[in-house]
Formats: sequence, C-alpha cells, structure tokens
Amino acid sequence: MREEPRIQITKDGPYLVSGKVRLSRETIIVDENGVSDTWEETEKSETPESCALCRCGKSSNKPFCDGTHEKIDFDGTETAQNEPYERSSQAIQGPTLVLRDKAELCVGARFCDKGIGTWELTKHSGVPLAKEMAIQTAGNCPSGRLVCYDKETEKPIEPACGESIALVEDPQEGVSGPLWVRGKIPVESCKGKEYEPRNRVTLCRCGKSSNKPFCDGTHVTVKFSDKK
Ligand code: FES
Repeated sequence: MREEPRIQITKDGPYLVSGKVRLSRETIIVDENGVSDTWEETEKSETPESCALCRCGKSSNKPFCDGTHEKIDFDGTETAQNEPYERSSQAIQGPTLVLRDKAELCVGARFCDKGIGTWELTKHSGVPLAKEMAIQTAGNCPSGRLVCYDKETEKPIEPACGESIALVEDPQEGVSGPLWVRGKIPVESCKGKEYEPRNRVTLCRCGKSSNKPFCDGTHVTVKFSDKK
C-alpha cells in the first residue's frame, strides 16, 4: 500500500520526507515588463520512499541533506506562529471576491505585482477581467500568503495542486528559493505539532528565514543558490 507523504522537521536538521512524492524544479517566468507571470516546471522526478531534504542551505548535495548542518551548528529553531490561515490573515473585500492576506508568509515571488496588483484587482472584481486576474495572481503565489475566496460561497479558490514538492528558482533575482510543498502534505514541527495542512506552503531551505520553517524571502538578500 502506498504510504501517504509527510514531512517531519528535525531539530536543527533536515526535513525528513516519507512516502514517495513528486519532486521537480519550478522556475518563475516573467512577462515583457519583467513581472512574474507563470511557472515553468522542469526536472520532474520522485523522491525515494524516505529522504532528507536540506534545511540549513549548506549541503553540497542539494536538495538532499549531507549532514553539514551538524558541522555548522545550524540553528533551525521554528519561530513561526502555528495558527490556522483563516484566523491569522487579513480580509480585503471586493464585490465578488474576498482576498485573504498573511503578509509574514511572503516569499517575494512578485506575481501579485501584475497589472494594478492583486489587492486592487480584488477591489475591482465586479469586472470579469479584474476578477480573473485577481484569482490567477493570487493562485500563483507559492506560499499561500494570498488566497482568493468566492464572496458568495465563502469557499477558497485554489489552483489544483497534486501532492508534490518543488524547488523554486528565481532567475530574475538570480537566486534559488524555498521548497514549495503542495497538495496538503502534512508538515510536523520538531516538537511533534502539525502545521495546518494547506494546498500551498513554502518551507525555507536557505537556513536564514526569521519565520522558520516557512520562507520569508531572505533567500533573495543572502543570494541563496541551489548550486553552491
Ligand atoms: S528559502 Fe526563502 S528565506 Fe530561506
């Protein structure tokens, strides 16, 4: 029987992934104005039945752990709030959509900069094109910071994400980004408490986030590269 994928965070160590799960690389593609537009998926494979993915950012065998976290005395203390998204995000009201926003989850992927921006698009969601763009730009946000809800049904409008883990690449910034965990794969803290399973979350793999285990965009500042 297939083992359900899950991610266990270890104390000052890697992410232990159990259950085979799709693993790929997802690259941010920009439009003619240099604004993040779409994702391109490459290097599709599958994790073994169990594996350890680097969390300190210093492995020589990324994305896998090679034990370097012990040599560098990595501090992987989890500092993120473990609050359900709907209780800890702000709601921006539009005529047909509600946009929820949890700013501390921002990874700086910039899809929300498209056009007049996801927040303004939501406020103009009575116009079909604005509504469509708001849904698309929020849906491209890898971390799930932004989620559009249907105002009438109050249901989230989520992209269809199967269970998968992707390594984010951001060539415009010249950096590699977080682990993009999709399809509600359970993530358990090193103290045994589960984070809310969500359709999209981004886990820090540069080792420098101030909101561990989640990415907070610091990989851009520290110029994190998957290749080093
Ligand atoms: S990967 Fe984004 S802050 Fe570490």
